[in-house]
Amino acid sequence: MKALILVGGFGTRLRPLTLSVPKPLVDFANKPMILHQIEALKAVGVTEVVLAINYQPEVMLNFLKEFEKKLEIKITCSQETEPLGTAGPLALARDKLIDDSGEPFFVLNSDVISEYPLKEMIEFHRGHGGEASIMVTKVDEPSKYGVVVMEETTGRVEKFVEKPKIFVGNKINAGIYLLNPSILDRIELKPTSIEKEVFPNIAAENKLYAMVLPGFWMDIGQPKDYITGLRLYLDFLRKQSSSDLASGSHIIGNVLVDESAEIGDGCLIGPDVAIGPGCVIESGVRLSCCTIMRGVRIKKHACISGSIIGWHSTVGRWARVENMTILGEDVHLGDEVYSNGGVVLPHKEIKSSILKPEIVM
Ligand code: GDD
Ligand code: MG
Repeated sequence: MKALILVGGFGTRLRPLTLSVPKPLVDFANKPMILHQIEALKAVGVTEVVLAINYQPEVMLNFLKEFEKKLEIKITCSQETEPLGTAGPLALARDKLIDDSGEPFFVLNSDVISEYPLKEMIEFHRGHGGEASIMVTKVDEPSKYGVVVMEETTGRVEKFVEKPKIFVGNKINAGIYLLNPSILDRIELKPTSIEKEVFPNIAAENKLYAMVLPGFWMDIGQPKDYITGLRLYLDFLRKQSSSDLASGSHIIGNVLVDESAEIGDGCLIGPDVAIGPGCVIESGVRLSCCTIMRGVRIKKHACISGSIIGWHSTVGRWARVENMTILGEDVHLGDEVYSNGGVVLPHKEIKSSILKPEIVM
C-alpha cells in the first residue's frame, strides 16, 4: 500500500519553530511530527510514502533518508512548482500512487496527531464499498475545520462543508483519508481543494463514508493546540505503555524524558512535559505543560509552564517563562528574565522581560 502526506504550507502559525525547519519536522513528544505518521503507516503495511511538498524539499529528504533505512520504508518527494492546495498534489503524484494492485491509498494532513487507527480504517473502507473513507472526530469549535454530516448507522456522508460560517454539526474532518485510485480521475492538475471541490462531489454521489475516530485527535499546527495535543498524546502513552514515561518523586503526572537528558536535584517536573535529547535541566527547576526541545539548557530555579522552548536554547537562572511563550531555535533568555507569552525568533539574546504576549524579532 502507498500513502501521500500533504506537507505543503509554510506553517506560519507555528513560527518561530517553522523558521528553522518545515512544519512536519518540528518535534512533537521528542520526535518530528511526521515520524509519528510514517511509523503508523509502516505498521499497517504501507511500503511507500510520498511527501507532497512545495518548499524546501532538500531539507526534508536529507532528514528522512536516515529514517528510510531505519524504518525500511521508501520515502519520496513530489514537488510542486506552485502550491496545488490539498487535492492538486494527488494529481501531481498520480504515477507514484497508482500501481497494478488497484489498492486504495492513504492521504494524511501533516499536522494532525492521533492514535492513527489505520487498520480499523482499512476494514471500514473494505466494508462500505464506496470510493473514499475519511476519519472524523468531535470538537467543540467546528468552525475552523471541515464539518461532516453523516448517516450514523452506515457512516455515509450526506454533506461536507469546509470551515462553515453557520453551525452544521460538530463532527469534523480529521485529515486522514483512504481513497480508491479512481478518485484521481476527479482531480485536475491545478490548485484544487480536496475539502471544497472533491469531497462535496463524492458525497453528492453517495460514495463518501466517514468513520468516527476512536481515541484522541488534535491538529497541532498552532501553539495552543500543540500544547493540548501533547497532553492528549501523553495520556494515550500512559494507557499504552507507562514504562515509556518518567517516574520518581520529582515527577508529577505524564512526563516524557529522553534517556540522554540530564535532570538536576530538587526539580519538580510535570504534568504534560516532554524533554528532548541532550537537554540539561539544572537543579531546582519547575516545569509543567511544556516542550523542551533537543539540546536545551534550563538553568537553576527557572520556572516554565505552558510554553515551547526551541532547539539549543537556554533559559537563565530564576527565569519565569509562561503563557504560551515560544522560543525559537538558539534563543538565550537571561537570568531572572520573565516572559509572558513572548514569541522569540531564532538566534536572539533576551536580557529584559517580555511583559505581555508579543513577537520579539
Ligand atoms: N503539498 C501541499 N500543497 N500541501 C498543502 C498545501 C499545498 O498547496 N496547502 C496545504 N497543504 C497541507 C498542509 O501542510 C496540511 O498538512 C494540510 O495540507 C491541510 O492544510 P492546513 O492549512 O493545515 O488546513 P487546515 O488545518 O486549515 O484544515 C484542514 O485540516 C483540518 C483538520 O486539521 C482541512 O482538511 C479541514 O477539513 C480539516 O478539518
Ligand atoms: Mg492544519
